Amino acid sequence: MMKRFVLLVLVAFTAFMVLHLSKDPLRGGWTPTQERPTFADPPVRQSPILLNSSKDCRPCHEEVYREWEQSHHRISYTNPEVQLLSTGFQGEGLDCLPCHLPRPVPETGFGVRPLERAVRHDEGVDCMTCHHHPKSHVMLGAGPLTAAAKDAPCQPEVHPAISSMDLCAPCHNQHKVHEEWRQSRYAVTGADYKDCNDCHMPEIDRLGLGGEARKGRSHAFPGAHDPEMLRSAATFEFSKIGSRELRLHILNSGAGHNFPADERHRAVDVHLIAKGLQGPIREVRAFRFRNPYRQDFEYRNPLPKVDSVHEETLDLGPLGAIAMVLRRIPSPYNPVREIWYERSTQIPEGEAREFQFSLPPSVLTVTVKAWYRKKPNASDEESVLLYEKTLDL
Ligand code: HEC
Ligand code: HEC
Ligand code: HEC
Ligand code: HEC
Ligand code: HEC
Repeated sequence: MMKRFVLLVLVAFTAFMVLHLSKDPLRGGWTPTQERPTFADPPVRQSPILLNSSKDCRPCHEEVYREWEQSHHRISYTNPEVQLLSTGFQGEGLDCLPCHLPRPVPETGFGVRPLERAVRHDEGVDCMTCHHHPKSHVMLGAGPLTAAAKDAPCQPEVHPAISSMDLCAPCHNQHKVHEEWRQSRYAVTGADYKDCNDCHMPEIDRLGLGGEARKGRSHAFPGAHDPEMLRSAATFEFSKIGSRELRLHILNSGAGHNFPADERHRAVDVHLIAKGLQGPIREVRAFRFRNPYRQDFEYRNPLPKVDSVHEETLDLGPLGAIAMVLRRIPSPYNPVREIWYERSTQIPEGEAREFQFSLPPSVLTVTVKAWYRKKPNASDEESVLLYEKTLDL
């Protein structure tokens, strides 16, 4: 009797979780907007050596191993930020495991959310996550295989799905990064085409085990923890357009998705530092670009439409006030986009934001600073300075 009751509760709970999770876009309810290509699994073979851990790949793939070891994929379970938010992967934090401590993606299927594993916590998103054959103990590669690869002990088989975006999507599309990319100029076949890997797994030169030169792909996965990558996302222009008028133009020129990307706790802040002849220096935040959490009630997007204009007054205390006008400049490639997060102030690919500042007579110099913050409350010292310029009036 008791057993049956427990079973009933378990079934009800599972049904609730399945419904609940599939409804909640934050937890990865991925709905593809395009037909996905399907790839047949390569033939089943058996590698002559045991390959159970990333460490087993190290002796022959030292360079790849070292890149991956420094990457955030390696620390996806041990990362203190993740441990904190998932309360050590306990309770509700168990939901975080499938992406932060995954079983191989090819096992569950490309484009499908992976299952969680229970071992090798220190390896996070490991080599097996992306390379393990779904049915046998050989590795999957993008091909075409070099002569050395054909004879290699890890017995690599070609599987085109490895270089398709369906490898990354099950974990990375929970906040619509892939959908954003599909609306970008990079998604169009032609000279501008760039997929996730073209930017996040750039091509590099490698030496094969036999010493021969070949092309490889960086496994360092540069992203939000790489200042150079962050600075490549946007182009800033700060100029004087009148005796008391300044213009700041910010263009998402380098990210294949919204900027700042993905994570809802990232923010890009624009600060103005105003100085008079002598006396006080005043610093104000003119704007924050961010996709807020649902519980951040105070956030609104003042530029919901292509031609929206937003006006605001920035108080400088004893120095007076700056009149700010902010415009949304659509992308010439794709002016009207689908928006998934109404309150998000992120800058979509190819779009710009144009600020015009009218200054009070007391202000003689203005410095503009743009900060990338990993968390909304991060200090300047913890943040990456994307841009800085001073103009005298
Ligand atoms: C559908 C897959 C998926 C699930 C489920 C998931 N995450 Fe993540 N998480 C990711 C991906 C992918 C990234 C990296 C993307 C990025 O940084 O924007 C990430 C990044 C993070 C980061 C940022 C790490 C850093 O270095 O700044 C934190 C913190 C985090 N996740 C916590 C959690 C917690 C807590 C849960 C469970 C409530 C969770 N995640 C569930 C896929 C997932
Ligand atoms: C005993 C040596 C050895 C071990 C161990 C080994 N490999 Fe390999 N692997 C090779 C050699 C040799 C090549 C051919 C390319 C080269 O020379 O680097 C290769 C090629 C590859 C390729 C490239 C296929 C392509 O796209 O051309 C992949 C992917 C790969 N290995 C994955 C792995 C993974 C993942 C592991 C660990 C689970 C592993 N290998 C362990 C020797 C090894
Ligand atoms: C099994 C889930 C999973 C798969 C598959 C996956 N990732 Fe990730 N990725 C993560 C998680 C989780 C993180 C965040 C780890 C952290 O910061 O703690 C992450 C982080 C990243 C980052 C951010 C690094 C940084 O330092 O900010 C990039 C870029 C990235 N992944 C690109 C890719 C690409 C490209 C692919 C496909 C080739 C891919 N990932 C496949 C789970 C995955
Ligand atoms: C044209 C180059 C380009 C393309 C294409 C591109 N990205 Fe990015 N990505 C960037 C740049 C630049 C950044 C750093 C600035 C930012 O955060 O927006 C970034 C940041 C990221 C981050 C870090 C987010 C965080 O908060 O930790 C992830 C994850 C990511 N991209 C995933 C992807 C995925 C998945 C795809 C494919 C659907 C993709 N990117 C396509 C350039 C690109
Ligand atoms: C997040 C997914 C992911 C992880 C984790 C990952 N790889 Fe890869 N790897 C790829 C993709 C995607 C390619 C092929 C890119 C292409 O050419 O289209 C690749 C290519 C390779 C290649 C051939 C190209 C080169 O640079 O030499 C080798 C070898 C390889 N991986 C080994 C490894 C090893 C060893 C590990 C663990 C230390 C590992 N990979 C971890 C996704 C991953």
